[in-house]
Amino acid sequence: MSSQSQSDRIIIFDTTLRDGEQSPGATLNVDEKLTIARQLARLGVDVIEAGFPFASPGDFEAVSRIADIVGTEDGPTICGLARATRQDIKTAAESLKPAANARIHTFIATSDIHLEYKLRKTRQDVLDIIPEMVAYAKSFVDDVEFSPEDAGRSDPEFLYQALEVAIASGATTVNIPDTVGYTTPSEFGGLIRGIKKNVPNIDQAIISVHGHNDLGLAVANFLEAVKNGARQLECTINGIGERAGNAALEELVMALHVRRHYFNPFFGRSPDSEESLTTIDTSQIYKTSRLVSNLTGMFVQPNKAIVGANAFAHESGIHQDGVLKHKLTYEIMDAQMIGLTDNQIVLGKHSGRNAFRARLKELGFDLADQELNKAFLRFKDLADKKKEITDWDLEAIVNDEIQQTPELFRLERVQVSCGDPAQPTATVTVLTPDGQELTDAAIGTGPVDAVYKAINRVVNLPNQLIEFSVKSVTEGIDAIGEVTIRLRCEGRIFSGHAANTDIVVASAHAYTHALNRLYVAVQKGNVIHPQRDDVAQSILPVRL
Ligand code: KIV
Ligand code: ZN
Repeated sequence: MSSQSQSDRIIIFDTTLRDGEQSPGATLNVDEKLTIARQLARLGVDVIEAGFPFASPGDFEAVSRIADIVGTEDGPTICGLARATRQDIKTAAESLKPAANARIHTFIATSDIHLEYKLRKTRQDVLDIIPEMVAYAKSFVDDVEFSPEDAGRSDPEFLYQALEVAIASGATTVNIPDTVGYTTPSEFGGLIRGIKKNVPNIDQAIISVHGHNDLGLAVANFLEAVKNGARQLECTINGIGERAGNAALEELVMALHVRRHYFNPFFGRSPDSEESLTTIDTSQIYKTSRLVSNLTGMFVQPNKAIVGANAFAHESGIHQDGVLKHKLTYEIMDAQMIGLTDNQIVLGKHSGRNAFRARLKELGFDLADQELNKAFLRFKDLADKKKEITDWDLEAIVNDEIQQTPELFRLERVQVSCGDPAQPTATVTVLTPDGQELTDAAIGTGPVDAVYKAINRVVNLPNQLIEFSVKSVTEGIDAIGEVTIRLRCEGRIFSGHAANTDIVVASAHAYTHALNRLYVAVQKGNVIHPQRDDVAQSILPVRL
């Protein structure tokens, strides 16, 4: 943690594991969440919002394990979301117990539209609930954050009152959400200015901002908020989140870094100060982006700022010429700043287990022995097929291994025959959760279609495939192919991801992965959504 006081710099609050995971299809299991949380700690975020513990026992367990393993004394603060109800707050407090630094983030809507149609409450009801629930959260932890949901569309005068009572009851951070991504940068900056001016006790709390990207303005809104006094930014890796997503962490951090001379005076610093405005280790950005994309199955568009495949590629002749003469002609930042190192050839067929383990460690993967053994076998297999193995190949192998646990349906064998003329045919053998080994075959319009149909005959979980994409990890004909798929079942979306030099095999594994997620969801039943399921929210607070 930096020696600067928190209000002299920006606090990065990462909500990839909570709001990001609320994106359709981005559901993560406990191990995957823990892997991402560890990487967020390496990235240097100040706060990890690890989930909504009341949602389900799985969410509770994920927050608890992250609190235990990542929430160390010198690690990030671990935060749990809770609606403004006693049962949510108590559950969040329970799950956060193992963390050295824990925060409860409680919220209730303040816009008239939410009050009338969602909560069916009056403004006075909300003004009564806030102090009671903030004080209740404060009885468990010192660090309490309060959010007036849909602040961007709330009456500012009412918002000031809500914030004042929250701070008076112990909120140490007040977060201003643009829940529906409606505001424009000057409006959002003005809202923060108004809060600073009109909430009498605002100097006792950090002002935070949270925003969705429905109009593509979330990052711009946040930067205006920073200029007007916001000091905590709630963001997600790759900007994933509800609908069009949340403000993207990598864009905010790099904007504050690359343009620090512009932003410095808003922090009372000399314009030419080189001191960083955040505690983020920017060299971890690219790796974190790939990890989140692989584990959530949320593809990063090639032209995405900072982490898109084209963000540092100079295709056109004029640009290449300029960049060769002097980098700064067309580049405002160096690819190495975000950890996009040259695609180094690091290992080969003759590399041993120690070299493999050492390189993984350098890449930030600390695998348990069993995981390491599995990954090493994958590496040896890959080294037989591919002469030169790069860091990106290693990441693909390890990410693939991490997400394979636990496998409920396990694909044991897949065999296809196809050609022209020929009828694509696939035979698959799947180990079912109850230990049976089942084999079946099907024909399809192509090899992948045949594989999916054969798997469906065994697994029997009706669904609709809505997205299928293949991308190569490195260049070259022997490259690893990464397959990402999304399928829909009863209105819910499940994604799957797998990597292999054979894209039909990768497709089969990606599909099985998505089916496993669907299977878990069927077993688990419904998970409560913090902002849409208002059963608990509609209950007036009662003493437990
Ligand atoms: O978008 C939103 O308003 C939220 C709150 C729960 C902070 O995610
Ligand atoms: Zn949100």
